[in-house]
Amino acid sequence: MPTSSESIDELLAAAEPLIELAVAEDIGPGDATSLATLEPGTILQGRIVAKAPGVIAGLPVAEAVFRAVDQQIAFTPHVQDGQIVVDGELIAEVVGPGRGLLAAERTALNFLQRMSGIATQTHRMVSAVGTTDATILDTRKTVPGYRILDKYAVRMGGGLNHRMSLYDMLLIKDNHIDGAGGISAAIRRARTHHPDLPIEVEVRDMAELQEALAADPPLDRILLDNMTPAQMRMAVQLTAGRVPLEASGNVTLDRLADIAATGVDFISAGSLTHSVVALDISMKIGLATVGDESALVQRIREVKAAQGERLVILAHHYQRDEIAALADFRGDSLQLARQGTQTNAQVIAFCGVHFMAEVAAILAKPGQHVLIPDPTAGCYLADTATSQGVQTAWQALDDALGAADSEITPITYVNSSADLKAFCGRHGGVVCTSGNADRVIRWALEQRPRIFFFPDQHLGRNTSHRVGIPDGDMLVWNGRVPPSAASIRATRVYLWPGACCVHRRFRPDHVLAIRERHPGIKVVVHPECTAEVVALADESGSTSRIITLIERSAPGSKWAVATETRLVYRLQSEHPDQLIIPLADVAPFCRTMSQTTLANLAEILEGLERGELVNEVTVEHETAHWARVALERMLAL
Ligand code: 13P
Ligand code: SF4
Repeated sequence: MPTSSESIDELLAAAEPLIELAVAEDIGPGDATSLATLEPGTILQGRIVAKAPGVIAGLPVAEAVFRAVDQQIAFTPHVQDGQIVVDGELIAEVVGPGRGLLAAERTALNFLQRMSGIATQTHRMVSAVGTTDATILDTRKTVPGYRILDKYAVRMGGGLNHRMSLYDMLLIKDNHIDGAGGISAAIRRARTHHPDLPIEVEVRDMAELQEALAADPPLDRILLDNMTPAQMRMAVQLTAGRVPLEASGNVTLDRLADIAATGVDFISAGSLTHSVVALDISMKIGLATVGDESALVQRIREVKAAQGERLVILAHHYQRDEIAALADFRGDSLQLARQGTQTNAQVIAFCGVHFMAEVAAILAKPGQHVLIPDPTAGCYLADTATSQGVQTAWQALDDALGAADSEITPITYVNSSADLKAFCGRHGGVVCTSGNADRVIRWALEQRPRIFFFPDQHLGRNTSHRVGIPDGDMLVWNGRVPPSAASIRATRVYLWPGACCVHRRFRPDHVLAIRERHPGIKVVVHPECTAEVVALADESGSTSRIITLIERSAPGSKWAVATETRLVYRLQSEHPDQLIIPLADVAPFCRTMSQTTLANLAEILEGLERGELVNEVTVEHETAHWARVALERMLAL
């Protein structure tokens, strides 16, 4: 399950009186239209469908609404809370007495749409903080009575909850400070009354910040109220990591990247819950949608059979189950790169994200074509490193070291654009995947004394640890404040600051919590997780290593897995004799991996029947040549 059962119990307990109120408000003595138009025994099937892309939250509440109206209604979710859906995706099916089904529809959707709207906006904000370590928080600006629902939805979108209410944390604001006669006096009184509660203090300028920083013992957090990014940057410098800082006030999506770049630890946004735009979700009685799998599956099978050996379908492990089931070959990125070079099919339908299809296109034999079901399915991590950004960093390294080309081996994780792979090809560098990063780094250090690893700082750090390089020999590149020439010369490993938005969601406290909840459970994590998570885990490894570990485990084994959630659920269904659960209580899904659907796969395959190459992935000749050099260096290792 994507959320712990305690969290669902708390949600349902909070929702129960709200559902009662809402049902009484909407249905009252009866739904006049349904009662008039439907025979009493009519059984209907409803399909709840997303009409826009977003993150789903509130399925247990929607189910409880249907049950509250008619106990006989069966609710079958097709996605989980926290999961990203595409436009047209089937979210849930409901079957039962038609009168109850239609009477409950509006109320169930009202809950689901509002909560999914909050989760979707939270997810946008979480994505907008980019490669910084800033965490998105909610506030108490929730609809009265709906706080637990609203805050649950924020968690589903990948945000964290600020204090729940006035009783569980002290937040000393300007009014308290003025009333108490100053910051120090307010802190003193707060500590005396509540030595057990965390304390946060709001500051309006640097003088107040200095006073708050002087508190001994240090405060739990300091809130920077309505400051400009320049002031926040100054506050971060002044604080120097002694107390976590929270930015608050006028936090909008377009300001987020700038705020996060100041280095604050938390950003709280009242708009997440006070200005909710509901996600568009509707219920249709018995109509076909993207989720109407059988017709599309049949169509895809027909085209596959007709194309025969001319066509091969490759799928990454993070793809939807229905896509994975249709693939001729399923693998992690290293296996897929190898498989791409081995097939003789004329057309490779690549079900994955864009950089993976690009690798297949670069390695393709003459006359082979690579098609991707959705050409906009990118990779958040790959997008953190642009060719220009890497060139600029390389120039700075060159200036500091004299000759970067003879000092540094550039390594790009396969999750990167063809341009960056070509950069590595041109500079004696190489590509790696999470499955061979150890081998590649060892090889690179045999060529030259230093490495420049992009775009994933965590894979770079974790793998460097594995080959014996300590943190003191690494630095994370900061494009805004480049390191001094002296620190560049004193460092062996330069890490690009990129991170995967899925894997960075796993935290050390998840490891501790899961071990407490399931004594004896083993924790296995993907090396795109942070070094803190990897250090606590029992095992770490690429997607295929995770799969192999579980496949080889004895019945009764228990695993908490930190990687993309679809794979974790698939492993659980393939190994029912083991317990296999996501490590995080809100399990993360990769949005772009979800963009491949039966509908867009069928579309490219139907194109083949018409003799068209729909969504062909191509790479410019010169770039492809140098990228192939770097890829072939990797494949030869
Ligand atoms: P693998 O190399 O394990 O397939 O990982 C690819 C990826 O995108 C991980 O997020
Ligand atoms: Fe990219 Fe992360 Fe998705 Fe993998 S899981 S494709 S690294 S965003």
